Amino acid sequence: MRDQPRKRKLTHNLTSLCGMVLAAFGFITGTALIIIDAQTHFDNPYTGIFTYMVVPAILFGGLLLILVGVLMERRRRKRGDSQEPSLPIINLNDKKQFASLLTIIVVTLLFIAISVVGGYRAFHFTESVEFCGKTCHDVMKPEYTAYKNSPHANAGCTKCHIGPGADFYAKSKLNGLYQVYSTMFNKYSRPIPAPVHNLRPAKETCYTCHWPEKFIGATEMTRTYFRADEENSPWTIQMLLSVGGGGNGHRSAKGIHWHIAGENTVEYIAIDEKRLEIPWVRVTDADGKQTVYQSEENQLTTEEITTAEIRTMDCIDCHNRPTHQFHSPERALNEALTSGQLNPGIPKIKLNGIEALTGKYETEGEALEAIQEILAKAYPDGGPEVESAIAAIQRIYSQNIFPEMKVSWKQYPDHIGHMITPGCFRCHNGEHQNEQGMVISRDCDSCHTIIAQGPGRDITSINTGGLPFKHPEDIDEEWKESRCDDCHEGVPVM
Ligand code: HEC
Ligand code: HEC
Ligand code: HEC
Ligand code: HEC
Ligand code: HEC
Ligand code: HEC
Repeated sequence: MRDQPRKRKLTHNLTSLCGMVLAAFGFITGTALIIIDAQTHFDNPYTGIFTYMVVPAILFGGLLLILVGVLMERRRRKRGDSQEPSLPIINLNDKKQFASLLTIIVVTLLFIAISVVGGYRAFHFTESVEFCGKTCHDVMKPEYTAYKNSPHANAGCTKCHIGPGADFYAKSKLNGLYQVYSTMFNKYSRPIPAPVHNLRPAKETCYTCHWPEKFIGATEMTRTYFRADEENSPWTIQMLLSVGGGGNGHRSAKGIHWHIAGENTVEYIAIDEKRLEIPWVRVTDADGKQTVYQSEENQLTTEEITTAEIRTMDCIDCHNRPTHQFHSPERALNEALTSGQLNPGIPKIKLNGIEALTGKYETEGEALEAIQEILAKAYPDGGPEVESAIAAIQRIYSQNIFPEMKVSWKQYPDHIGHMITPGCFRCHNGEHQNEQGMVISRDCDSCHTIIAQGPGRDITSINTGGLPFKHPEDIDEEWKESRCDDCHEGVPVM
């Protein structure tokens, strides 16, 4: 074999050559970009995606091509030239070959080191709010906007959506790849479906910041409602919500957070996709005693119960909208009128605001223009007051309604409360009985105590003993029998 001419290297083939070019490009570009990013942090999500996802993909693609080329070349040689020695490829006594091997090892190690640093930064980048909220801008706009206006605006998407640890990271990234695909090919559904089924258990997300065992007693809540009449007549209700708390060994669980106290387990079966209809509830107490409550109206058969998915109640079963809150026009207008962003002195502003906000619009741009037109027509004299009212109502629209994604208060019912969605009344409607005939309470005082109510914006006196609810409009005690959301849908009841 000695006298044979030197064999070409296995990497000397077109496929491997292409691979080398790609890999070199990826390596040099990637290194440069990572260094730049370390110095001046990229704000633009696309630069980040390019650096930490596209460039590494090119690099790995290149390396893969080199390998494929070598393997193909080897097979070719085996077939064509049986003389070709397949092993050993490298002769360590040959100084030149040894030097090449050393170079390859050093470069590989260097590459791995850089990949680790890059990978770490990539991990952080895909965790960032920019990545989650802005990359797929149109798709995530509703959730991102709502998040930015919520109590969790600084929490970070991943604190609730991924949580710590590698397993959920991998899961969410696989899921994320699918999301990137569906965004690129316009395959996502509008709106994005909720409930989110692969959300990490609340114990590993909400619990990293909140500790419900610590809640004690009641939280005060005051709301002013403005009627859709000439004067935008205000009506105020002040109440104490018995948030209570989970037991902590010293005292037993009580109040609203009783459901998720360590000592109790509340499980339920929902028969619809959005978990709004709950005919079956089971409570297991600290001693393991179980009590089942069934809806009188909608009894499930034993077979239906054994085949259904039984869900254990956690934070999300009430706080399903802790951060992506899309308020109804009624609530958003009431809040703006209360805070003074919208001047309640402008006649009929509530009614006109409702009309402007509830029109059928295809795009946000169209909606904002229509709001301008409707209000300019309603107040032909104009003036700075009207201008600022128009701006406030446009802002309400932009923060709560997203026609492109078909998102509004209607698509994502909030389970807290019971005014415009069934919420607590999914179970607490006085119709779920156990075997002894005891019901899950609908007693107004079991969750909150009204301490003041009546016309006007200012509360002059409070009654800590609690007041029976007075419905702001005379509806003949109807509210005692019907569910509030039978009439209230987020716009004034006409
Ligand atoms: C405080 C916790 C929290 C934070 C922070 C948070 N989310 Fe969510 N998100 C949730 C919960 C809970 C749901 C599930 C709602 C359900 O299942 O009904 C959800 C649902 C979603 C959905 C599904 C559609 C919907 O509205 O239900 C998307 C998309 C989403 N979040 C994106 C984001 C993005 C993007 C960010 C960061 C800008 C973010 N989330 C931050 C808790 C959070
Ligand atoms: C990264 C920490 C963090 C995580 C994770 C988190 N929260 Fe919060 N949450 C906060 C902070 C901080 C506040 C208080 C904000 C304020 O008062 O301005 C808050 C406020 C709240 C409030 C009161 C809101 C209000 O209107 O006053 C609720 C309810 C809540 N969180 C529920 C949840 C739920 C449910 C989850 C899990 C899906 C969750 N949080 C996850 C940090 C977090
Ligand atoms: C049975 C329904 C329910 C469950 C389950 C539930 N909450 Fe609440 N939570 C409420 C209600 C109702 C309030 C009162 C405030 C409101 O209306 O937003 C509240 C208030 C809060 C507040 C604000 C406390 C305050 O003093 O203002 C935080 C924070 C909170 N919950 C976190 C959690 C966390 C974390 C979990 C899960 C461990 C959880 N909640 C489970 C219904 C629930
Ligand atoms: C999945 C069904 C379900 C939902 C939804 C639900 N609850 Fe409950 N709740 C129960 C059951 C079951 C009990 C225990 C009834 C009993 O033992 O008499 C209970 C008990 C309570 C209690 C009394 C706790 C104590 O001190 O003993 C309060 C207060 C309460 N719920 C508030 C709420 C509020 C507020 C909401 C809505 C944010 C809500 N619940 C939603 C099932 C539910
Ligand atoms: C199972 C617990 C529970 C029961 C029973 C209950 N409520 Fe409530 N209610 C709540 C919670 C929780 C809120 C707070 C919702 C929020 O934070 O937006 C609320 C809010 C309200 C509000 C303010 C509505 C809004 O959205 O602005 C009124 C009014 C009210 N309740 C009246 C009643 C009356 C009347 C009854 C009896 C028929 C009753 N509630 C029974 C839990 C309950
Ligand atoms: C039979 C239909 C009906 C039922 C059921 C009903 N309401 Fe009303 N409600 C009305 C009407 C009509 C008005 C006056 C018009 C308006 O302002 O929307 C009103 C007004 C209100 C208002 C004042 C301002 C506002 O937001 O418009 C509150 C608060 C209210 N209702 C709470 C409740 C609560 C809480 C329940 C359930 C316990 C309930 N209502 C059940 C018909 C109903």
